[in-house]
Amino acid sequence: MKTVAVVGTQWGDEGKGKIVDMLAADADVVVRFQGGNNAAHTLVVGGKKFVLRLVPAGALHPGKACVIGNGLVVNPIALLGEIAELKRSGHLADDSLFKISYDAHMVMPYHLAIDRAREARAGKRAIGTTGFGIGPAYEDKMARVGLRFEDLLDFKFFEEKLRRNIVEKNAYLKALLKTKPIKADETIDAMKKARRRLLPYLCDTGAFVSDAIDSGKRVLFEGAHGTMLDIDHGTYPYVTSSSCVASSVFSGTGIGPGNLEAVLGISKGYTTRVGAGPFPSEFSGYLADSLREEGDEFGSATGRPRRIGWFDAVLARYTARVNGMWALALTKLDVLTGIDPVKICVGYVVKGKRYDDMPPSHRMLINAKPIFEEMPGWSESPAGARMLAELPSSVRRYVERISELVGVPIAMIGVGKEREATIVVRNPFAD
Ligand code: IMP
Repeated sequence: MKTVAVVGTQWGDEGKGKIVDMLAADADVVVRFQGGNNAAHTLVVGGKKFVLRLVPAGALHPGKACVIGNGLVVNPIALLGEIAELKRSGHLADDSLFKISYDAHMVMPYHLAIDRAREARAGKRAIGTTGFGIGPAYEDKMARVGLRFEDLLDFKFFEEKLRRNIVEKNAYLKALLKTKPIKADETIDAMKKARRRLLPYLCDTGAFVSDAIDSGKRVLFEGAHGTMLDIDHGTYPYVTSSSCVASSVFSGTGIGPGNLEAVLGISKGYTTRVGAGPFPSEFSGYLADSLREEGDEFGSATGRPRRIGWFDAVLARYTARVNGMWALALTKLDVLTGIDPVKICVGYVVKGKRYDDMPPSHRMLINAKPIFEEMPGWSESPAGARMLAELPSSVRRYVERISELVGVPIAMIGVGKEREATIVVRNPFAD
């Protein structure tokens, strides 16, 4: 197959970065299609840790085209910082291989200010956002007042639009959110400087990706966050403000559905969540704390400790459906070493009624009691395994049971942080 999308099937942080980085070795073009720098893909290459927030993970392979699609909201200053950092470590050397869609929206300082002030005022109702202005930026996109990269072509036009927005947002910030206004001149100066560095990257990325597909190149679409954070299909309102499912590949890049051949879902061998919202398979206590430490389960974007839960097969089956999943990659199985038994959530009880599939309303998840199936754990770490046959037998049984419950094959199994610590059962680009 030549066109593959990678999507998260939980609440983000499934280990997509590592899988995308691995698949990028076989791709010609890697494309982000939604979200912003609220995403953070952590990769360990040659013992060095990289955290990519906006730049596609293909950037760590020389010679790959990296594309920021129209579906993103991009903080231009954060993006330039990330590019500079990558360049310092010898990556992204060829500027002609990095493309930003003219139609992608920009996150402005007032978006961050609004996001943070709203969260601070929300008290118990806070969503636990990353505070990076993502929701307010998508609001402006839908309200048709957002600033797009194409606006930078004519700086006078850009400045007028930005000043108009700042007047309106400052009124809102001061009167309703009781917080400090944004300094217009400072913002405009920063954007004037950023513009010079951004213009060379601007591109009709829809045409670029489409031409790549037509000429037989391999294209990898890199999803961010996870299906349960999707604005439509996630645990609303405790979600992010973009569409994180595979169908947003099309609206977020400008290609049609017939152009996508496979969707690979990524899931950890257990579940985590940052921020507020329902999480039926969650548990706490000593085991959760040690799993958090062992798995380094602290938000890559914000450093917040992640909530911990068992693998949830109900949720995974639902996300397999929503994404039309071809196969699943299971990550971080090494982290579960030493835990006995391991548990899988196979159903919920809500107000006395049993649900084997996702209840019709996500709000019902707030009161859902998990039904667990227990399986023998493993004391021998699978970290050194590079083939299925090298996995301890109880890990293999666990993986097979998950595949059976979710109803999709397992394509990859992650057993450690490093690039090479992955067992590839099926590589979509080789299928
Ligand atoms: P926002 O995307 O910053 O608006 O945050 C909304 C919710 O999505 C919060 O619960 C965040 O913690 C969560 N979230 C956003 N991006 C990610 C991610 O990449 N991984 C995990 N959680 C995320």
